[in-house]
Amino acid sequence: MNRKDFPMLNEDIIYLDNGATSLKPKCVIDKMTEYYEKYSANAHRGDYDISFKVDVEYENAREEVKNFINAKSKEEIVFTSGTTDSLNMIATGFFGNLLEPGDEILITTSEHASNVMPWFRLCNDLGAVVNFIPLDDSLHVTLDNVRKSITPNTKVIALAGITNVVGDIRPIKEITKLAHEHDIFVVLDGAQSVPHIKTDVQDLDIDFLAFSGHKMLGPTGVGVLYGKKELLEELEPVNLGGGMNESFDTVDTMYYKDLPTRLEAGTPNIAGVIGLGEAIRYINKIGIDKIHERELHLRDYLIEKLIPISHIDIINLEADSGIVAFNVEGIFSQDVAYFLNKYNICVRAGNHCAKILKNATGVTNSLRISLYFYNTEKEIDELVELLKNKQKIEEEII
Ligand code: ALA
Repeated sequence: MNRKDFPMLNEDIIYLDNGATSLKPKCVIDKMTEYYEKYSANAHRGDYDISFKVDVEYENAREEVKNFINAKSKEEIVFTSGTTDSLNMIATGFFGNLLEPGDEILITTSEHASNVMPWFRLCNDLGAVVNFIPLDDSLHVTLDNVRKSITPNTKVIALAGITNVVGDIRPIKEITKLAHEHDIFVVLDGAQSVPHIKTDVQDLDIDFLAFSGHKMLGPTGVGVLYGKKELLEELEPVNLGGGMNESFDTVDTMYYKDLPTRLEAGTPNIAGVIGLGEAIRYINKIGIDKIHERELHLRDYLIEKLIPISHIDIINLEADSGIVAFNVEGIFSQDVAYFLNKYNICVRAGNHCAKILKNATGVTNSLRISLYFYNTEKEIDELVELLKNKQKIEEEII
């Protein structure tokens, strides 16, 4: 990895908000520009050379995704606009036809809005219920707490692989084994995990997976919905229209195409998909395990430097990933973020779309550092130097 691969890293900034979105390497930007400059036809619709080229590039990207998450076939990979889109499609298109009044969906209070709100809407529509797996003292999900939360009515367990504020890694493989013993489906929100840790859908045996391109070096506006083929076959398309239909007539006789096309209505985000394929090639060159190792090193480095600062309260001391959330005692988190911004340091402050996490932590807002492999110890040193001086923060935010 060369930091020079990332044009934004040549700017005078310290970017520590990778949980919101990652930076993009030049090869991804170039690949998308190449599509727009050299062959920007539609996909799956043309009978001329450049449209064939689009199809090849688009489907190559699907192959990259398939291999990256070790899906059984390309039919199991559906391109969406992102994790939110994928989770809504799963909730509405699959479980909307399956759940009955009284059925239960298990989530936790540390889930992101996108893995809470679609379930609440579904439950309101169907008379089903959202229940919460309790978090332990370190805000982790334990297998024991999952076991205790399961009832005969539990039909779905929907969890993030890594949560976006606590940064805990969930024992998904063990949870899925337990869930399947009780005929419960498992949905994995991989927005914060797929870019950082190996995600092998066959090994984990999960039923559905959602993730976004833009948090893993790819462009915004593209994401993935993975589902086991036999389940995706049952997922009712939320969008109907061009591309996904085999035929329709003047009455309502409509035939859909096979997977994955039947779930990709309309002109897709072609440049985005091609860019995502390139992003995965870049990640593969480094190796996802090396990425995780590097992030753990940076997290340890950061936490060790924050712990001795008495006015810093770390929320997730036992994070398993590159996410560290904390507050500067007595100062509103957004004010600290504005202060850091004066020194060109980009961090996120607020509730981070995890608005019910406060039920477990008692903390409404926080500052969040979310690291990626291209961050450095020097960047962390600069951040910590500024955070050490509470008086300076107070003076400069007035
Ligand atoms: N979900 C993104 C985050 O955690 C936007 O910042």
